[in-house]
Amino acid sequence: MSEKIVVFTGAGVSQESGLRTFRDMGGLWQEHNIEDVASPEGFERNPAMVLEFYNQRRRKLGEVEPNAAHRAIAELERDFDVVVVTQNVDDLHERAGSTRVVHIHGEILKNRSSVDPALRYPAGGKIDIDLGDLCEKGSQLRPDVVWFGEDVLHYPESVQHFRDADRVLVVGTSLTVVPAAGLIRYAAAKAEKVVVALDLDTVPHGFHFLRGKATEMVPQVTDAWRRGRRP
Ligand code: OAD
Repeated sequence: MSEKIVVFTGAGVSQESGLRTFRDMGGLWQEHNIEDVASPEGFERNPAMVLEFYNQRRRKLGEVEPNAAHRAIAELERDFDVVVVTQNVDDLHERAGSTRVVHIHGEILKNRSSVDPALRYPAGGKIDIDLGDLCEKGSQLRPDVVWFGEDVLHYPESVQHFRDADRVLVVGTSLTVVPAAGLIRYAAAKAEKVVVALDLDTVPHGFHFLRGKATEMVPQVTDAWRRGRRP
């Protein structure tokens, strides 16, 4: 049985691909009010504006590529049992080749009904969601992303992945949004734990902090692990 690695990612892993993070300088939440574009109430108030915010990000995804960090994470599957648990709504882990990706904040390229979260649909060829695009129950479609006040997805399953992990690699997340950030507490005391970020307010207990760019630090960690060394 190969060792199990859980990789937990946030916006920082996709930053060097050209996608903006949320809380860094120039991050999305400096320019947009979270309550307006990432809450059910904001969507009720101004659905056109909210759809446009996500449509722009869906279009942007078509212009960017996975980077060396996504690729290094995908390559770990050659030697380890790997699960990627991500807060990201982009598809860059999948495009880099990762085969087990758990999207706890949803997937921007999918659509869902605004009255029934169980009704989810692939976006198909249509990138934009327009006002008037309806689910089978006749309600407006919205992107399949988790908004503030809504339940994260796949939480119990993700807790179990963390509990089972022999090694945990956290990349590019400020670890400020709960309950997502709370997942790392479930990692076993004996698991080897590494966190990569440009900056972190608090280094979580038991983690070895590697400060730097994901595209530089992540391949260093994964190379070390594949050679049986500590990063
Ligand atoms: P944040 O924007 O809060 O944090 C990004 C983290 O990535 C910071 O710690 C940065 O230091 C780090 N970072 C930035 N660029 C980096 C790079 N090139 N290499 C390495 N690290 C880098 O993003 P998240 O933690 O992902 O939720 O945000 C969590 C959630 O907040 C998101 O999933 C989203 C947002 O509101 C929802 O929309 C529900």
